[in-house]
Amino acid sequence: AAAAAAAAAFGEEQEALVLSAWNAMKGDSALLALKFFLRIFEIAPGAKQMFPFLRDAGDAPLENHPKLKAHAVAVFVMACESATQLRNTGDVKVREAALKRLGATHVKAGVADAHFEVVKTALLDTIRDAVPDMWTPEMKAAWEEAYDQLAAAIKEEMKNAA
Ligand code: HEM
Repeated sequence: AAAAAAAAAFGEEQEALVLSAWNAMKGDSALLALKFFLRIFEIAPGAKQMFPFLRDAGDAPLENHPKLKAHAVAVFVMACESATQLRNTGDVKVREAALKRLGATHVKAGVADAHFEVVKTALLDTIRDAVPDMWTPEMKAAWEEAYDQLAAAIKEEMKNAA
């Protein structure tokens, strides 16, 4: 019920906040993606072990990993899509086939609830630092809601895949 109430409070204003930050950031997505991941591994160094292509990378620089960038941009873009859907329907509907795959991938990688919290914190920190002049409690709340609903959809699918 709390989630439904929060989603109901997600309107044009919240969607606009999410999209305006993304529009300001997307030209810089390569650097942002790198910062986003460095922040994840700063908060949770052990998370590196989940990414097969990092496990054997030793101390090779992270910016050399295209898959890391792809993952970071996917989280940003999907959170934006989630915001648009929340505004339109009050619910997040990632395409069913895509969601099934996401569930399976994340179960296989050993991703747990706590990791979704780490990624959420890293995402919010990255946006705050990227658009400090736009950052307000309202913008933070809008990104949090969009991310939480998306994460909930993936976690639900992870239960089915487990
Ligand atoms: C793979 C999105 C959260 C770790 C992927 C892929 C996408 C994605 C699109 C590509 C593979 C596929 O489509 O199945 C997301 C989104 C997230 C999220 C939207 C949050 C809302 C997380 C978290 C972790 C994580 C919390 C753990 C720290 C991974 C790993 C892979 C992956 C290890 C496999 C990478 C590889 O082997 O290439 N994710 N992810 N993800 N994700 Fe996530």
